[in-house]
Amino acid sequence: MADEAQLARLGLFDARVPRYTSYPTAPHFNSDVNAGIFRDWVRAIPEGGRISLYMHVPFCRRLCWFCACRTQGTVSDDPVRAYAEVLQAELAILAADLPRGVTLSRLHWGGGTPTMMPPEVMAEVAGAVFKVVPLGPDAEFSVEIDPNEIDDDRLDALAAAGMNRASIGVQDFDPAIQEAIGRDQTFEVTKLAIDKLRARGIASLNADILFGLPFQNKERIATSVQKLLSLGPDRVALYGYAHVPWMARRQVMIPADALPRPEERLALFETARDLFVADGYAEIGIDHFALPTDGLAVAAREGRLRRNFQGYTDDTASVLVGLGASSISRFPQGYAQNAPSTSAYTKAVRSGEYATAKGHVFRGEDLLRARMIEALMCDFRIDLAEMTRDFGGTDAQVRAMFDRAKAEFGEMVEVSAGAFAIPERARPLTRMIARAFDAYDLSKAGHSPAV
Ligand SMILES: C[S@@+](CC[C@H](N)C(=O)[O-])C[C@H]1O[C@@H](n2cnc3c(N)ncnc32)[C@H](O)[C@@H]1O
Ligand code: SF4
Repeated sequence: MADEAQLARLGLFDARVPRYTSYPTAPHFNSDVNAGIFRDWVRAIPEGGRISLYMHVPFCRRLCWFCACRTQGTVSDDPVRAYAEVLQAELAILAADLPRGVTLSRLHWGGGTPTMMPPEVMAEVAGAVFKVVPLGPDAEFSVEIDPNEIDDDRLDALAAAGMNRASIGVQDFDPAIQEAIGRDQTFEVTKLAIDKLRARGIASLNADILFGLPFQNKERIATSVQKLLSLGPDRVALYGYAHVPWMARRQVMIPADALPRPEERLALFETARDLFVADGYAEIGIDHFALPTDGLAVAAREGRLRRNFQGYTDDTASVLVGLGASSISRFPQGYAQNAPSTSAYTKAVRSGEYATAKGHVFRGEDLLRARMIEALMCDFRIDLAEMTRDFGGTDAQVRAMFDRAKAEFGEMVEVSAGAFAIPERARPLTRMIARAFDAYDLSKAGHSPAV
Protein backbone atom coordinates (compact mmCIF):
# COMPACT_ATOMS: atom_id res chain seq x y z
CA MET A 1 0.00 0.00 0.00
CA ALA A 2 2.37 2.70 1.20
CA ASP A 3 4.94 3.96 -1.24
CA GLU A 4 7.84 3.44 1.15
CA ALA A 5 10.32 5.57 -0.78
CA GLN A 6 8.00 8.54 -0.73
CA LEU A 7 7.11 8.07 2.92
CA ALA A 8 10.74 7.73 3.86
CA ARG A 9 11.62 10.86 1.91
CA LEU A 10 9.03 12.77 3.88
CA GLY A 11 10.43 11.21 7.04
CA LEU A 12 6.94 10.69 8.29
CA PHE A 13 6.60 7.03 9.13
CA ASP A 14 6.09 7.55 12.73
CA ALA A 15 6.18 11.18 13.63
CA ARG A 16 5.07 11.96 17.14
CA VAL A 17 1.79 13.55 16.22
CA PRO A 18 -1.50 13.48 18.12
CA ARG A 19 -4.01 10.68 17.69
CA TYR A 20 -6.66 13.40 17.44
CA THR A 21 -9.22 11.91 19.77
CA SER A 22 -10.16 15.56 20.29
CA TYR A 23 -9.50 18.92 18.66
CA PRO A 24 -7.87 20.86 20.10
CA THR A 25 -5.91 18.08 21.78
CA ALA A 26 -5.74 17.81 25.58
CA PRO A 27 -2.31 19.51 25.95
CA HIS A 28 -4.02 22.74 24.77
CA PHE A 29 -6.62 22.73 27.51
CA ASN A 30 -6.42 25.73 29.82
CA SER A 31 -7.97 27.07 33.00
CA ASP A 32 -10.77 28.93 31.13
CA VAL A 33 -13.03 26.01 31.98
CA ASN A 34 -13.85 25.50 35.65
CA ALA A 35 -16.53 23.80 37.74
CA GLY A 36 -18.96 26.73 37.23
CA ILE A 37 -18.72 26.51 33.44
CA PHE A 38 -19.05 22.73 33.59
CA ARG A 39 -22.26 23.18 35.61
CA ASP A 40 -23.63 25.66 33.03
CA TRP A 41 -22.90 23.19 30.24
CA VAL A 42 -24.62 20.33 32.09
CA ARG A 43 -27.67 22.51 32.74
CA ALA A 44 -27.82 23.41 29.03
CA ILE A 45 -28.34 19.76 27.98
CA PRO A 46 -31.85 19.63 26.48
CA GLU A 47 -34.56 18.00 28.61
CA GLY A 48 -35.17 14.48 27.40
CA GLY A 49 -31.82 14.48 25.51
CA ARG A 50 -29.33 11.62 25.14
CA ILE A 51 -25.84 11.74 26.59
CA SER A 52 -22.96 9.31 26.99
CA LEU A 53 -20.88 8.71 30.10
CA TYR A 54 -17.24 7.69 30.47
CA MET A 55 -16.16 6.54 33.91
CA HIS A 56 -12.45 6.28 34.72
CA VAL A 57 -11.12 3.82 37.31
CA PRO A 58 -7.40 4.60 37.79
CA PHE A 59 -6.28 1.42 39.57
CA CYS A 60 -4.48 -1.76 38.51
CA ARG A 61 -3.30 -4.79 40.48
CA ARG A 62 0.05 -4.59 38.67
CA LEU A 63 1.45 -1.86 36.46
CA CYS A 64 2.50 -3.01 33.00
CA TRP A 65 5.68 -1.20 31.94
CA PHE A 66 4.44 -0.29 28.47
CA CYS A 67 1.26 1.38 29.68
CA ALA A 68 0.82 5.14 29.30
CA CYS A 69 -2.67 5.27 30.81
CA ARG A 70 -3.46 7.31 33.92
CA THR A 71 -3.49 4.65 36.60
CA GLN A 72 -1.88 3.58 39.85
CA GLY A 73 -1.04 0.18 41.34
CA THR A 74 -2.72 -1.22 44.44
CA VAL A 75 -2.78 -4.69 45.94
CA SER A 76 -5.57 -3.86 48.38
CA ASP A 77 -9.18 -3.19 47.33
CA ASP A 78 -9.56 -0.41 49.91
CA PRO A 79 -8.53 2.51 47.66
CA VAL A 80 -10.84 1.14 44.94
CA ARG A 81 -13.81 1.03 47.33
CA ALA A 82 -13.05 4.56 48.56
CA TYR A 83 -12.81 5.79 44.98
CA ALA A 84 -16.12 4.15 44.03
CA GLU A 85 -17.77 6.19 46.80
CA VAL A 86 -16.34 9.38 45.32
CA LEU A 87 -17.68 8.39 41.89
CA GLN A 88 -21.13 8.06 43.45
CA ALA A 89 -20.75 11.46 45.13
CA GLU A 90 -19.83 12.94 41.74
CA LEU A 91 -22.94 11.34 40.23
CA ALA A 92 -25.05 12.96 42.97
CA ILE A 93 -23.64 16.39 42.05
CA LEU A 94 -24.44 15.69 38.40
CA ALA A 95 -27.97 14.56 39.30
CA ALA A 96 -28.73 17.96 40.84
CA ASP A 97 -27.86 19.78 37.58
CA LEU A 98 -28.98 17.37 34.90
CA PRO A 99 -32.20 18.42 33.14
CA ARG A 100 -35.15 16.05 33.34
CA GLY A 101 -35.61 12.99 31.18
CA VAL A 102 -32.01 12.65 29.98
CA THR A 103 -31.10 9.07 29.01
CA LEU A 104 -27.88 7.23 28.26
CA SER A 105 -26.64 6.43 24.79
CA ARG A 106 -23.32 4.87 25.86
CA LEU A 107 -21.77 4.03 29.18
CA HIS A 108 -18.09 3.10 29.13
CA TRP A 109 -15.99 2.05 32.12
CA GLY A 110 -12.29 2.45 31.40
CA GLY A 111 -9.03 2.81 33.19
CA GLY A 112 -6.82 1.55 34.53
CA THR A 113 -8.76 -1.54 35.25
CA PRO A 114 -12.45 -1.06 36.09
CA THR A 115 -12.68 -4.76 36.94
CA MET A 116 -10.60 -3.96 40.04
CA MET A 117 -13.94 -3.06 41.59
CA PRO A 118 -15.31 -5.90 43.74
CA PRO A 119 -18.61 -7.32 42.42
CA GLU A 120 -20.89 -5.63 44.94
CA VAL A 121 -19.15 -2.29 44.27
CA MET A 122 -19.72 -2.69 40.53
CA ALA A 123 -23.41 -3.32 41.16
CA GLU A 124 -23.62 -0.25 43.41
CA VAL A 125 -21.84 2.05 40.96
CA ALA A 126 -23.89 0.84 37.98
CA GLY A 127 -27.09 1.28 40.03
CA ALA A 128 -26.02 4.82 40.95
CA VAL A 129 -25.40 5.66 37.28
CA PHE A 130 -28.76 4.33 36.09
CA LYS A 131 -30.60 6.17 38.88
CA VAL A 132 -29.21 9.46 37.53
CA VAL A 133 -29.26 8.63 33.81
CA PRO A 134 -31.25 5.54 32.79
CA LEU A 135 -30.17 3.55 29.75
CA GLY A 136 -32.02 4.69 26.64
CA PRO A 137 -33.21 2.45 23.79
CA ASP A 138 -30.31 0.63 22.05
CA ALA A 139 -27.91 1.86 24.71
CA GLU A 140 -24.51 0.22 25.01
CA PHE A 141 -22.65 -0.46 28.24
CA SER A 142 -19.01 -1.41 27.68
CA VAL A 143 -16.23 -2.24 30.11
CA GLU A 144 -12.45 -2.60 29.67
CA ILE A 145 -11.46 -6.02 30.96
CA ASP A 146 -8.01 -7.21 31.92
CA PRO A 147 -8.17 -11.02 31.54
CA ASN A 148 -5.83 -11.36 34.53
CA GLU A 149 -8.18 -9.36 36.73
CA ILE A 150 -11.58 -10.93 36.25
CA ASP A 151 -13.51 -13.86 37.73
CA ASP A 152 -17.01 -15.37 37.63
CA ASP A 153 -18.42 -13.15 40.39
CA ARG A 154 -17.30 -9.96 38.74
CA LEU A 155 -18.48 -11.13 35.33
CA ASP A 156 -21.86 -12.04 36.81
CA ALA A 157 -22.10 -8.60 38.43
CA LEU A 158 -21.27 -6.87 35.15
CA ALA A 159 -23.71 -8.99 33.15
CA ALA A 160 -26.45 -8.39 35.73
CA ALA A 161 -25.76 -4.64 35.54
CA GLY A 162 -26.38 -4.76 31.78
CA MET A 163 -22.89 -4.79 30.25
CA ASN A 164 -23.34 -5.72 26.59
CA ARG A 165 -19.87 -4.92 25.21
CA ALA A 166 -16.43 -5.73 26.51
CA SER A 167 -12.94 -4.64 25.58
CA ILE A 168 -10.10 -7.05 26.30
CA GLY A 169 -6.47 -5.98 26.60
CA VAL A 170 -4.20 -8.39 24.70
CA GLN A 171 -1.19 -6.34 23.46
CA ASP A 172 0.83 -9.39 22.25
CA PHE A 173 0.76 -13.12 23.07
CA ASP A 174 4.51 -13.66 22.65
CA PRO A 175 6.12 -14.56 26.02
CA ALA A 176 9.43 -12.79 25.23
CA ILE A 177 7.59 -9.60 24.30
CA GLN A 178 5.37 -9.88 27.37
CA GLU A 179 8.47 -10.19 29.52
CA ALA A 180 9.94 -7.06 27.94
CA ILE A 181 6.77 -5.03 28.53
CA GLY A 182 6.09 -6.31 32.05
CA ARG A 183 2.81 -8.06 31.29
CA ASP A 184 2.31 -11.74 31.87
CA GLN A 185 -0.87 -12.97 30.17
CA THR A 186 -1.21 -16.41 28.64
CA PHE A 187 -3.35 -17.20 25.62
CA GLU A 188 -5.32 -19.60 27.84
CA VAL A 189 -6.21 -16.88 30.36
CA THR A 190 -7.34 -14.60 27.55
CA LYS A 191 -9.39 -17.35 25.91
CA LEU A 192 -11.03 -18.23 29.21
CA ALA A 193 -12.06 -14.59 29.79
CA ILE A 194 -13.53 -14.41 26.27
CA ASP A 195 -15.36 -17.76 26.65
CA LYS A 196 -16.87 -16.60 29.94
CA LEU A 197 -17.95 -13.29 28.43
CA ARG A 198 -19.59 -15.03 25.50
CA ALA A 199 -21.29 -17.51 27.85
CA ARG A 200 -22.92 -14.49 29.51
CA GLY A 201 -24.30 -13.32 26.19
CA ILE A 202 -21.92 -10.41 25.62
CA ALA A 203 -22.72 -9.55 22.03
CA SER A 204 -19.64 -7.60 21.06
CA LEU A 205 -16.03 -8.18 22.02
CA ASN A 206 -13.19 -5.81 21.28
CA ALA A 207 -9.51 -6.69 21.66
CA ASP A 208 -6.58 -4.25 21.90
CA ILE A 209 -3.26 -5.30 20.40
CA LEU A 210 -0.09 -3.28 19.87
CA PHE A 211 2.49 -3.01 17.11
CA GLY A 212 5.94 -1.51 17.66
CA LEU A 213 6.67 -3.42 20.89
CA PRO A 214 10.22 -4.42 21.86
CA PHE A 215 11.48 -7.57 20.07
CA GLN A 216 8.37 -7.64 17.87
CA ASN A 217 9.01 -8.76 14.30
CA LYS A 218 6.78 -9.74 11.40
CA GLU A 219 6.71 -13.43 12.37
CA ARG A 220 5.87 -12.71 15.97
CA ILE A 221 3.09 -10.25 15.24
CA ALA A 222 1.65 -12.61 12.63
CA THR A 223 1.54 -15.41 15.21
CA SER A 224 -0.15 -13.15 17.77
CA VAL A 225 -2.71 -11.93 15.25
CA GLN A 226 -3.50 -15.48 14.18
CA LYS A 227 -4.01 -16.49 17.80
CA LEU A 228 -6.27 -13.50 18.30
CA LEU A 229 -8.25 -14.34 15.16
CA SER A 230 -8.86 -17.83 16.56
CA LEU A 231 -10.78 -16.11 19.38
CA GLY A 232 -13.03 -14.32 16.86
CA PRO A 233 -13.18 -10.77 18.29
CA ASP A 234 -15.86 -8.56 16.75
CA ARG A 235 -13.54 -5.54 16.75
CA VAL A 236 -9.81 -5.04 17.09
CA ALA A 237 -7.86 -1.92 17.94
CA LEU A 238 -4.31 -2.17 16.53
CA TYR A 239 -2.50 0.67 18.27
CA GLY A 240 1.07 1.75 17.68
CA TYR A 241 3.03 1.44 20.91
CA ALA A 242 3.85 4.98 22.05
CA HIS A 243 7.17 5.11 23.85
CA VAL A 244 6.93 8.26 25.95
CA PRO A 245 9.02 7.56 29.10
CA TRP A 246 9.15 11.28 29.92
CA MET A 247 5.37 11.09 30.44
CA ALA A 248 4.90 7.48 31.57
CA ARG A 249 7.92 6.90 33.78
CA ARG A 250 7.38 3.14 34.09
CA GLN A 251 8.36 2.86 30.41
CA VAL A 252 12.03 3.33 31.39
CA MET A 253 11.84 -0.41 32.09
CA ILE A 254 11.31 -1.05 28.37
CA PRO A 255 14.55 -1.88 26.51
CA ALA A 256 14.55 1.07 24.09
CA ASP A 257 17.21 -0.52 21.85
CA ALA A 258 14.84 -3.46 21.23
CA LEU A 259 12.12 -1.18 19.83
CA PRO A 260 11.44 -1.56 16.10
CA ARG A 261 12.57 1.33 13.89
CA PRO A 262 9.91 3.48 12.18
CA GLU A 263 10.08 1.55 8.89
CA GLU A 264 9.79 -1.71 10.83
CA ARG A 265 6.75 -0.35 12.67
CA LEU A 266 5.06 0.27 9.35
CA ALA A 267 5.85 -3.29 8.24
CA LEU A 268 4.47 -4.65 11.52
CA PHE A 269 1.25 -2.68 11.08
CA GLU A 270 0.88 -3.85 7.49
CA THR A 271 1.55 -7.49 8.42
CA ALA A 272 -1.20 -7.39 11.05
CA ARG A 273 -3.54 -5.38 8.83
CA ASP A 274 -3.22 -7.82 5.93
CA LEU A 275 -4.12 -10.74 8.21
CA PHE A 276 -7.24 -9.02 9.56
CA VAL A 277 -8.36 -8.01 6.07
CA ALA A 278 -7.71 -11.52 4.69
CA ASP A 279 -9.89 -12.87 7.49
CA GLY A 280 -12.80 -10.68 6.40
CA TYR A 281 -12.44 -7.76 8.82
CA ALA A 282 -13.22 -4.28 7.53
CA GLU A 283 -10.61 -1.58 8.09
CA ILE A 284 -12.00 1.18 10.24
CA GLY A 285 -10.19 4.50 10.25
CA ILE A 286 -6.47 4.41 10.97
CA ASP A 287 -6.20 1.60 13.50
CA HIS A 288 -9.40 -0.44 13.95
CA PHE A 289 -10.80 -3.57 12.31
CA ALA A 290 -14.33 -4.90 12.64
CA LEU A 291 -16.41 -7.78 11.33
CA PRO A 292 -18.65 -6.45 8.54
CA THR A 293 -21.75 -7.05 10.69
CA ASP A 294 -20.36 -5.10 13.66
CA GLY A 295 -21.91 -1.70 14.42
CA LEU A 296 -18.62 0.10 13.81
CA ALA A 297 -18.21 -1.41 10.35
CA VAL A 298 -21.83 -0.58 9.48
CA ALA A 299 -21.33 3.02 10.69
CA ALA A 300 -18.14 3.32 8.62
CA ARG A 301 -19.93 2.06 5.49
CA GLU A 302 -22.78 4.51 6.05
CA GLY A 303 -20.50 7.49 6.75
CA ARG A 304 -21.59 7.67 10.42
CA LEU A 305 -18.24 6.89 12.01
CA ARG A 306 -17.14 9.36 14.71
CA ARG A 307 -14.04 9.84 16.82
CA ASN A 308 -14.00 10.40 20.55
CA PHE A 309 -11.66 9.88 23.50
CA GLN A 310 -12.13 6.12 23.33
CA GLY A 311 -11.13 6.03 19.67
CA TYR A 312 -13.77 5.25 17.03
CA THR A 313 -17.47 5.15 17.81
CA ASP A 314 -20.89 5.09 16.20
CA ASP A 315 -22.31 7.07 19.12
CA THR A 316 -24.40 10.02 17.99
CA ALA A 317 -24.86 11.74 21.37
CA SER A 318 -23.46 15.29 21.27
CA VAL A 319 -22.56 15.26 24.97
CA LEU A 320 -20.04 12.93 26.60
CA VAL A 321 -19.69 13.40 30.35
CA GLY A 322 -16.46 12.10 31.88
CA LEU A 323 -16.60 10.96 35.51
CA GLY A 324 -13.60 10.16 37.68
CA ALA A 325 -10.04 11.46 37.95
CA SER A 326 -8.59 12.84 34.68
CA SER A 327 -11.77 12.15 32.66
CA ILE A 328 -12.59 14.45 29.78
CA SER A 329 -16.10 15.64 28.89
CA ARG A 330 -17.23 17.01 25.57
CA PHE A 331 -20.16 19.42 25.16
CA PRO A 332 -21.28 21.38 22.11
CA GLN A 333 -19.66 24.36 23.88
CA GLY A 334 -16.23 22.79 24.54
CA TYR A 335 -14.16 20.30 26.54
CA ALA A 336 -13.73 19.96 30.30
CA GLN A 337 -11.20 17.75 32.09
CA ASN A 338 -11.31 16.61 35.70
CA ALA A 339 -8.27 16.97 37.96
CA PRO A 340 -5.84 14.22 36.92
CA SER A 341 -4.67 13.19 40.36
CA THR A 342 -6.98 10.99 42.41
CA SER A 343 -6.35 13.12 45.52
CA ALA A 344 -7.26 16.45 43.88
CA TYR A 345 -10.31 14.87 42.24
CA THR A 346 -11.44 13.35 45.54
CA LYS A 347 -10.94 16.61 47.44
CA ALA A 348 -13.08 18.60 45.00
CA VAL A 349 -15.93 16.08 44.90
CA ARG A 350 -15.89 15.58 48.68
CA SER A 351 -16.35 19.35 49.04
CA GLY A 352 -19.53 19.05 46.95
CA GLU A 353 -18.10 20.51 43.74
CA TYR A 354 -17.25 19.20 40.28
CA ALA A 355 -13.55 18.37 39.92
CA THR A 356 -13.12 20.30 36.64
CA ALA A 357 -9.50 21.46 36.37
CA LYS A 358 -9.19 22.69 32.79
CA GLY A 359 -10.67 22.50 29.33
CA HIS A 360 -11.31 24.46 26.19
CA VAL A 361 -14.17 26.71 25.08
CA PHE A 362 -14.83 26.33 21.33
CA ARG A 363 -14.27 29.56 19.43
CA GLY A 364 -13.46 30.86 15.96
CA GLU A 365 -12.68 28.04 13.53
CA ASP A 366 -12.46 25.32 16.22
CA LEU A 367 -15.59 23.37 15.28
CA LEU A 368 -14.85 23.60 11.56
CA ARG A 369 -11.28 22.36 12.04
CA ALA A 370 -12.38 19.73 14.57
CA ARG A 371 -14.78 18.26 12.02
CA MET A 372 -12.20 18.38 9.21
CA ILE A 373 -9.73 16.45 11.34
CA GLU A 374 -12.40 13.99 12.48
CA ALA A 375 -13.50 13.43 8.88
CA LEU A 376 -9.92 12.65 7.83
CA MET A 377 -9.39 10.28 10.77
CA CYS A 378 -12.70 8.49 10.05
CA ASP A 379 -13.23 8.67 6.28
CA PHE A 380 -9.87 9.92 4.89
CA ARG A 381 -11.91 12.60 3.16
CA ILE A 382 -13.23 16.09 3.88
CA ASP A 383 -16.38 17.08 2.04
CA LEU A 384 -16.33 20.78 1.13
CA ALA A 385 -20.13 21.07 1.03
CA GLU A 386 -20.47 19.61 4.56
CA MET A 387 -17.99 22.16 5.92
CA THR A 388 -19.78 25.15 4.38
CA ARG A 389 -23.27 23.83 5.16
CA ASP A 390 -22.83 22.52 8.72
CA PHE A 391 -19.70 24.10 10.17
CA GLY A 392 -19.84 27.74 9.05
CA GLY A 393 -16.83 27.64 6.74
CA THR A 394 -16.88 29.77 3.60
CA ASP A 395 -15.99 28.17 0.30
CA ALA A 396 -12.82 30.26 -0.01
CA GLN A 397 -11.75 29.59 3.58
CA VAL A 398 -12.11 25.82 3.27
CA ARG A 399 -10.42 25.71 -0.14
CA ALA A 400 -7.52 27.75 1.23
CA MET A 401 -7.07 25.14 3.99
CA PHE A 402 -7.16 22.35 1.38
CA ASP A 403 -4.56 24.20 -0.71
CA ARG A 404 -2.22 24.73 2.23
CA ALA A 405 -2.30 21.02 3.07
CA LYS A 406 -1.81 20.17 -0.62
CA ALA A 407 1.25 22.44 -0.74
CA GLU A 408 2.70 20.57 2.22
CA PHE A 409 1.91 17.00 1.12
CA GLY A 410 1.93 17.26 -2.70
CA GLU A 411 0.89 14.11 -4.53
CA MET A 412 0.27 12.27 -1.24
CA VAL A 413 -3.13 13.99 -1.06
CA GLU A 414 -5.88 14.67 -3.61
CA VAL A 415 -7.87 17.90 -3.94
CA SER A 416 -10.91 17.85 -6.22
CA ALA A 417 -13.73 20.31 -6.85
CA GLY A 418 -15.67 19.18 -3.80
CA ALA A 419 -13.30 17.37 -1.48
CA PHE A 420 -9.88 16.82 0.05
CA ALA A 421 -8.87 13.16 0.26
CA ILE A 422 -6.06 10.90 1.42
CA PRO A 423 -5.57 8.08 -1.11
CA GLU A 424 -4.95 4.58 0.21
CA ARG A 425 -1.18 4.69 -0.39
CA ALA A 426 -0.81 7.68 1.95
CA ARG A 427 -2.97 6.42 4.82
CA PRO A 428 -0.01 5.80 7.14
CA LEU A 429 0.36 9.60 7.05
CA THR A 430 -3.20 10.36 8.11
CA ARG A 431 -2.31 11.84 11.51
CA MET A 432 0.41 13.99 9.92
CA ILE A 433 -1.97 15.22 7.23
CA ALA A 434 -4.69 15.88 9.83
CA ARG A 435 -2.17 18.01 11.68
CA ALA A 436 -2.05 20.36 8.69
CA PHE A 437 -5.60 21.37 9.72
CA ASP A 438 -4.62 21.92 13.36
CA ALA A 439 -4.26 25.62 14.13
CA TYR A 440 -2.77 25.13 17.59
CA ASP A 441 0.95 25.65 17.53
CA LEU A 442 2.06 23.35 20.29
CA SER A 443 0.89 20.26 18.48
CA LYS A 444 2.51 21.57 15.29
CA ALA A 445 5.75 21.66 17.25
CA GLY A 446 5.22 17.96 17.96
CA HIS A 447 4.95 18.31 21.72
CA SER A 448 1.67 16.48 21.99
CA PRO A 449 1.73 12.94 23.25
CA ALA A 450 1.17 10.20 20.74
CA VAL A 451 -1.23 8.39 23.05
C1 LIG B 1 -6.22 1.61 29.79
S1 LIG B 1 -5.73 0.18 29.02
C2 LIG B 1 -6.99 -0.80 29.78
C3 LIG B 1 -6.91 -2.22 29.58
C4 LIG B 1 -6.89 -3.10 30.81
N1 LIG B 1 -6.42 -2.47 31.99
C5 LIG B 1 -5.96 -4.21 30.46
O1 LIG B 1 -4.82 -4.18 30.87
O2 LIG B 1 -6.38 -5.11 29.74
C6 LIG B 1 -6.37 0.44 27.40
C7 LIG B 1 -5.42 0.23 26.24
O3 LIG B 1 -4.55 1.32 26.06
C8 LIG B 1 -3.51 0.89 25.21
N2 LIG B 1 -2.22 1.47 25.63
C9 LIG B 1 -1.75 1.61 26.87
N3 LIG B 1 -0.50 2.13 26.85
C10 LIG B 1 -0.18 2.34 25.55
C11 LIG B 1 0.96 2.86 24.88
N4 LIG B 1 2.05 3.24 25.54
N5 LIG B 1 0.92 2.95 23.54
C12 LIG B 1 -0.18 2.56 22.85
N6 LIG B 1 -1.27 2.05 23.43
C13 LIG B 1 -1.29 1.94 24.77
C14 LIG B 1 -3.42 -0.64 25.35
O4 LIG B 1 -3.68 -1.27 24.12
C15 LIG B 1 -4.50 -0.94 26.36
O5 LIG B 1 -5.17 -2.14 26.11
S1 SF4 C 1 -2.38 -2.13 30.51
FE1 SF4 C 1 -4.14 -2.27 31.85
S2 SF4 C 1 -3.40 -3.44 33.61
FE2 SF4 C 1 -1.60 -2.77 32.55
S3 SF4 C 1 -1.03 -0.86 33.59
FE3 SF4 C 1 -2.29 -0.30 31.79
S4 SF4 C 1 -4.32 -0.14 32.55
FE4 SF4 C 1 -3.15 -1.27 34.11
